Amino acid sequence: MSGAASTHTNNLEAFWMPYTANRQFKQNPRMFVGAKDMHYTTSDGRQVLDATAGLWCCNAGHSRPKIVEAVQNQVAELDYAPAFQMGHPKAFELAARLAAMAPSPLDHVFFTNSGSESVDTALKIALAYQRAIGQGTRTRLIGRERGYHGTGFGGISVGGIVANRRTFGTMLTGVDHMRHTHDPERNAFTRGMPESGAEYAEDLIRIIQLHDASTIAAVIVEPVAGSTGVLIPPKGYLERLRKICDDNGILLIFDEVITGFGRLGSPFATDYFGVTPDLVTTAKGLTSGVIPMGAVLCAAKIYDAFMNGPDHMIELFHGYTYSAHPIACAAALATLDTYDEEGLLTRAADLAQYWEDGLHSLKDCPNVIDIRNLGLIGAIELSPIAGEPTKRAFAAFLKAYEDGLLIRTTGDIIALSPPLIISKAEIDEIFDKLRKVLTSID
Ligand SMILES: Cc1ncc(COP(=O)(O)O)c(C=O)c1O
Repeated sequence: MSGAASTHTNNLEAFWMPYTANRQFKQNPRMFVGAKDMHYTTSDGRQVLDATAGLWCCNAGHSRPKIVEAVQNQVAELDYAPAFQMGHPKAFELAARLAAMAPSPLDHVFFTNSGSESVDTALKIALAYQRAIGQGTRTRLIGRERGYHGTGFGGISVGGIVANRRTFGTMLTGVDHMRHTHDPERNAFTRGMPESGAEYAEDLIRIIQLHDASTIAAVIVEPVAGSTGVLIPPKGYLERLRKICDDNGILLIFDEVITGFGRLGSPFATDYFGVTPDLVTTAKGLTSGVIPMGAVLCAAKIYDAFMNGPDHMIELFHGYTYSAHPIACAAALATLDTYDEEGLLTRAADLAQYWEDGLHSLKDCPNVIDIRNLGLIGAIELSPIAGEPTKRAFAAFLKAYEDGLLIRTTGDIIALSPPLIISKAEIDEIFDKLRKVLTSID
């Protein structure tokens, strides 16, 4: 490495790191320089077991050969093609493949570059759809407390995590929120879906009674809320939400940015729960995190509502320079091949019980106040240190990293979502290491 390059590499100041305690990090940086299958390699040459699939995205594991090769070939063959008024074959191939994978009637696909963009896109499609079918008074969007829908203004408006909202002004107008479904008094340490809480869906009726259904375009929820610390939907909750939306002409959007592509043991959470929304947002696992890409799946009735007017007119004034980027499409196609060849989209179903047993074995560790799980998702909630919320979980994160384990924390909750290629021995290793971590921190 040249002297100049190494000087720049050692200067950590310029990069304003996202969702990071910048000052803490820069005093004691944690750097990954390589990744293969289930492990990262650190700059000091250690192996770190990835219990979070990067950021819930590397579902096929790291540096998988087919995906690497597809990206390498694509960049040499067609590096970029305009997405507006032009196409390239892999965009159509990928859309057709996703439409075939998704439950009926989700058979059209709009490409984006991230979960946040998928959310914005779905919200915009919902509003424009209502107008297209003569329901132009339906301009309200309804989210849920503790929801995470990325960081765009649309996403933080319908999202319900206070730290993501409080410093950013008034956001979108005309938004309201249902209550969240977390109910530790009744449901702490539930394995899988809680029995109690389906009635929380009725909170949508309260909102309809306040604003009137004729003003509401869409409701957006994560089928399993992830970034807020893993909230599993109570049995029957999503079904009730679907019914209330149907009864009131409201579109239902599932944000499947983390649940899509096998996380629960089925291609989408929509399959897992047997509840079909009108729009599904995806990203992350679509390319196994290799290239930024998102996709919004929508029902034919929505697409068809736009397909009128003169043929030469653009039907939806929305899109991104990098929508259906050729390299992202190549990465996604190779990712879907890898998922198919290795049975990864259903593998979480085979491992779920083993995962659940390992996770809940930590119940007796100090400060553990709840454990939640579904598919290959797990959460361990710790009691906060008095007056210093988040500090205990952050200490666990730092200790785990030191011990060769990557976990993710949000508030005082440890969230786990390993690559879907994980072995039972690696599941054991995660929980062995976590037991040591939890018994060694204050
Ligand atoms: C449910 C959900 N929606 C949207 C997003 C935002 O995705 P991105 O960070 O790719 O914009 C995330 C990211 O974690 C997510 O979990």
